[in-house]
This record gives sequence, structure tokens and C-alpha cells, in this order.
Amino acid sequence: MSRALSRSFLFVPGDSERKLLKAETSGADALILDLEDSVASNRTALAREQVLSYLHAHRRRESQIWVRINPLSTPAALLDLAVVAGAPDGLVLPKVDSAADVVRLANMLDALEVRDGLSSSSIAILPVVTETPASLFSAGSYSGCSSRLAGLTWGAEDITTALGASSNRELGGEYNHVCTLARTLCLAGAAAAGVQPIDTIWADFTNIDGLVEEVRQARQRGFTGKLAIHPAQVEAINFAFTPSAEEITWSLRVVKAFEENPGLGTLALDGKMLDMPHLKQARRILATVHKLA
Ligand code: COA
Ligand code: MG
Repeated sequence: MSRALSRSFLFVPGDSERKLLKAETSGADALILDLEDSVASNRTALAREQVLSYLHAHRRRESQIWVRINPLSTPAALLDLAVVAGAPDGLVLPKVDSAADVVRLANMLDALEVRDGLSSSSIAILPVVTETPASLFSAGSYSGCSSRLAGLTWGAEDITTALGASSNRELGGEYNHVCTLARTLCLAGAAAAGVQPIDTIWADFTNIDGLVEEVRQARQRGFTGKLAIHPAQVEAINFAFTPSAEEITWSLRVVKAFEENPGLGTLALDGKMLDMPHLKQARRILATVHKLA
């Protein structure tokens, strides 16, 4: 199933009425109403109720609304599935070990969609694929696991804690080796599965320059979206993942150059060599424009 492309996914703690309200005007392509780590355990029940009412109140929506449930290994996850009745666009599944967890959730959703009168396979799944030590060995397992799979994303905090490490950064501020590996596995795993690779959060939310640099690098590497934790981050993320006027012009020229020379696998444009990877890149940029329109 082909799913919409989302550039920005804004986390909103599910128990915060104030943030839920603020989220409406954030401009994020997708909201992720959180029932997991940003909600204190004594407020989870309240958060479930608020999230479900929010979904009901936003049946017709401009932004996608996702819900992050608790890990499937916990009883809380099953209670979280009450939100399915509100027809979320998708569920974010944290702390997966492999694609088998996605398949388990997909099977549950098959039943719940029937119960709640929703179209079959309407609820997508976005797993967080690097939060457990085991998950690092199965990032390549997601291809073909479920038509609900919309993307893969990753997290730096939980894997750091799970490994008993005290920091996920090097002295210079860049991610350490484990996190760099996790980020790359997420990217390659998503490409192998043919779904969106979505970069993790930038936690230092008052440092917009740092975010701009990280999101620029993420896009250059192949990510097509990024998680956000604060409304002030949304604009920079949307901007970075929107093809610029120059990129669109270049792409149109590349496609045209190949169309006009059907017998050529390589040709020159503005004094530079072009071959198949450039044509694919140009087509991908134009497809992104089309999907965002
Ligand atoms: N979604 C919606 N609104 C948010 C928001 C979010 N993620 N983060 C902040 N806001 C709102 C605040 O409520 C405040 O609104 P107000 O003017 O109506 O009071 C406004 O934006 C400015 O917020 P600010 O004062 O700069 O931040 P804060 O100190 O209130 O909150 C965080 C900082 C980090 C606690 C908050 O951004 C947050 O909860 N982020 C999400 C955390 C999360 O979900 N983590 C899980 C994934 S890692
Ligand atoms: Mg977490």
C-alpha cells in the first residue's frame, strides 16, 4: 500500500491538554500522540482517554495523527490499543526486536479494525528499530513484513541505556559509534524494505541552528523525514525535506535530457557527466514534489 510522505512527526505527550491544543497549529505533517516515555505511569490511563477524545474530535484531519503505544511486551500496550477506535493514521511501535513484533501488531490491528468498523489495513505501523540490543541485528528484517509498514525510525536514548553506556555522544558532540551504526541501520533497513527512513529527534530544542545542520545532513544521507519534540522544530524540518526550486529545475532538466536522448545511458549537462543514478535521483525528487502536493 502506498502511504503519504510525511516530513515532520511531532511528538505530543498524550496527557498534556495544553500541548495537544498547541499541536493543532504546529504545521507538522504528522503528530505522534505519546502514551509511552513522555507520560508518567500514573497518568497513562488519563493520557489514553485524552488521546482517544482527540482522535474522535479530529476525524477529519489535515495532519496525520499517529499514536505511540507502549512496547508490545508490556500489558500497557494492550490497553493502549483502545485508541484504535479513534481511527489513528498509524501506531508508532517502540522497542521492537525485529519485524516479528510488527507482524504481531499487524495481526491485532486486523481484528481491531473489524471490531471498530474501520477499513482493512487503514492503520499504518512505524517501528522504532534500534532501541534494544537485539534490534540492531535485525534492522534488515522488515522487508515485506506487512503492508502496514510506513517507515522505520530510530532512537539513541534507549539503546544507550540498554547497553549500559553513559553517553551517546563523543566529546566533540557527534553521535558515538553505536548511534551512528543504529542510524545507518535504520536508513538501510528502510531502503531495503522500500519505506520511509525517518531520522530521530534533536533533543536540544532551543538550538535551532544545530537542528538545521542535523536535518540537512540527514536528508543528504537519504532520510525523508524527522521526528520532532517541540513545535519550534517543525518549520526547519519541513523546509529541509521539501525539494528546493533549484533541485526541481535540475531534476526536470535531467529527465528531459534523457528523454531527448533515448539511446544514451550517459550524457553531459552543464559540463558534468550524468548517468542512471542521476536520472533516478532526479525522478525521486520529482516524485517527492508530487507526493507532497
Ligand atoms: N507539542 C505541542 N506543544 C508543545 C510541545 C509539543 N511537543 N512542546 C512544547 N509545546 C508548547 C508548550 O506547551 C508551550 O505552549 P504554551 O505557550 O501554550 O504554554 C509552547 O509550546 C512553548 O513551549 P516551551 O515553554 O518552549 O517548552 P516546555 O518547557 O513547555 O516543554 C518539553 C519542553 C521538552 C517538555 C516539550 O517540548 C515536550 O513535552 N516535548 C515532547 C516530549 C516528548 O513527547 N518526548 C517523547 C519522544 S522523545
Ligand atoms: Mg524512549
